[in-house]
This record gives sequence, structure tokens and C-alpha cells, in this order.
Amino acid sequence: MSPVLVPDRIGRAAFRSVILSAAGNPWISALANRRGLEAGANRFVAGETLADCIPVLDRLQAGGMRTYVIALGEAIHTTEDAAAAAAGYEDLIPEVAARGADTTFSIKLTHLGLELDPELAWRHARRVVALAAEHGAFVRLDMEQSDVVDQTLDIYRRLRSEGLDNTGVVLQAYLHRTMNDLIGLLPLEPNIRVVKGAYLEPPAVALQKKAQVDAAYLQLVRTALAHARFTAVATHDEQAVAEAKNAALKYQADHEFQMLYGVRFGLAEQLVEEGHHVRICVPFGADWFVYFTRRLAERPANLLFLLRNLARR
Ligand code: FDA
Repeated sequence: MSPVLVPDRIGRAAFRSVILSAAGNPWISALANRRGLEAGANRFVAGETLADCIPVLDRLQAGGMRTYVIALGEAIHTTEDAAAAAAGYEDLIPEVAARGADTTFSIKLTHLGLELDPELAWRHARRVVALAAEHGAFVRLDMEQSDVVDQTLDIYRRLRSEGLDNTGVVLQAYLHRTMNDLIGLLPLEPNIRVVKGAYLEPPAVALQKKAQVDAAYLQLVRTALAHARFTAVATHDEQAVAEAKNAALKYQADHEFQMLYGVRFGLAEQLVEEGHHVRICVPFGADWFVYFTRRLAERPANLLFLLRNLARR
């Protein structure tokens, strides 16, 4: 099995589907949680605690990069877990903000209980974002699977309607609905992160072919750069980066590039050398497995790397 053969034999979409489905398997998750971090997940995850994260943040900042942190965890099962996740952010934000570096935060609303009770997630999100405002910090709501997009956008709008402008949201180019969502948000002068989309979605709601997603991504990035207050162009795709540079220049757009820890670091360094702003997502937490499976699904070679490392142990 070579990195080239995996996508050829089973197809890229099928590969993604198998890997993302495995994320829900408790046996695989337990095995990975025992051995996965040392076996390769630590390429993408800074560690289990904030203390593991700090040296990574320091290194990136020394290299001229901005950062954001996310405490991993999602789709929790109890209101106590949701409260614990919110409390975790309430500890994290002052501690990270006190470092004085340009580090922002991302949260997943399912981590704050969105699937249990949207009002509960709203209350947690409002508390976290309000606390961040007191510390001069910015918090972005990540975008998750398509059935929570409406609720996520609702909570973003409610935060903004309460004057909490230190927040932004994410739009996923693979969803058929997304250009309309962007247009609908523009009156708010939003801060938008534009991504291709990382979840397993059916054809009824999302584009399935990579070429179509890539094209939709470029269109969304151009529109956001032309009209949003701030655009985070979140991709490791060199062609998209090149197009975004041109569009940002054309529209004089306030923007930055964003990339994930462990992915295409050379490209991030090159952008910084050219004078662009680059922010790296630094994830940490004990519940890293589902995040990690999304990184595996994005690139078959990552799975082979993990399997080789596990076999060596
Ligand atoms: P593409 O998949 O075309 O990759 C371009 C190149 O980058 C590949 O050829 C490969 O070289 C490299 N690459 C990409 N992914 C890699 C990986 N995992 N390992 C190694 N190399 C890789 N999604 C979402 O649904 N909701 C969200 O909130 C976010 N948030 C987010 C923040 C940031 C900062 C980034 C960069 C991405 C996200 N995503 C996301 C994930 C996003 O939707 C998408 O799945 C990945 O970014 C991969 O798509 P690319 O745009 O990088 O292009």
C-alpha cells in the first residue's frame, strides 16, 4: 500500500467516508487515545494540556506567526460536560491573554452543549465571549456538521446583536447554502474564516467532487475579501493562497491566512517572509481523537504515517 495507491483504489470520497465514520467507533477511539498521540497525532495536536501548548505558541510567535488555540472536544453527552468545557475556556482565556501575544480562540458550539440544548450553548458562548471581551481577546465559532449550521449562525448573530463584536464565524465552501449565508451576514460587517469543509456530508447538502469544492472555495474567498470586514483565508492549498493574495490586493481587504498546526508549515513560513499575516491553529486537549481523524481524512498519506508509527511500537 503506497500513499499514491490509497486514493486511486478506493477513491478520495470513499476514503474520507471510511475515516470519518471510524471517528465514531468507541473501540478505535479508545485504542487511539491510548497510543495515538505519541504514534503521530502529536504532529497535529500540541498535547493534552495548555502547558503542552505554550512552547508551541512561543515557537510560532518567534517565527513571526499569529496563533489561535482551541480546546478540543465536541458532541459532548451531558450538560455537566458542556459546563466543564465552558469553564475550561473561562480559565484558558485570561491565562493566554495575559501572555500579551496575538493569540485568539476558537470554540465548537457542540462542545458547549449545542446538540443537548441550543439555549445552554448560547448561554455558555455568551459568557465565554463576554469574558474574552474583558481581556481584549477574540473568539471565533468554528463551523461543524451541516445540521448545526443554522444554530451556529443564530448564535453568532445573537452575540453580535448584544454588542459582542470580538467574535467571528466560519463558512464552509462545500455546502450548497454557503454563498447565501455569506450574503446574509454581510450587513453585520462580519469577521469570517473561509474553509473548504471537513465533515462527511451528503450530496443533498454539499458538493462531493474536490474540483467543485476548490472552485466554490475560490468564489467564496473572493466574495468575502471584497465585502466582509475581515477575512481569514484558511487553507493549505497553494493555488487558493495565490488567488487570495491577488484578490486581497485588488479589494484592499483586511485579511490574514490561517493554517493548521502540523500542515504545510513551509507555506506558512513563505507567506510570513513575503510580509503576509499568518495565524496557526494550535489545538490541545485530551479529546483530540475526532479532530485528528479529520486531519487523516484530508490526506491518505497521514494514515499511512500513523500506521507505520503504530507498527514500529
Ligand atoms: P486541500 O484539502 O486541497 O489541501 C491542499 C494541500 O494542503 C494538500 O494537497 C496537502 O498538501 C495539504 N494538506 C491539507 N490538509 C492536510 C492534512 N490534514 N495533512 C497534511 N497535508 C494536508 N473545517 C470545518 O469544517 N470547520 C472549521 O471550523 C474549520 N476550521 C479550520 C481552520 C483552519 C485554520 C484551517 C486551515 C482549516 C479549517 N477547517 C475547518 C478544515 C478545512 O475545512 C479543510 O478540511 C482543510 O483545511 C483541508 O483543506 P485545504 O483548504 O487545506 O485544501
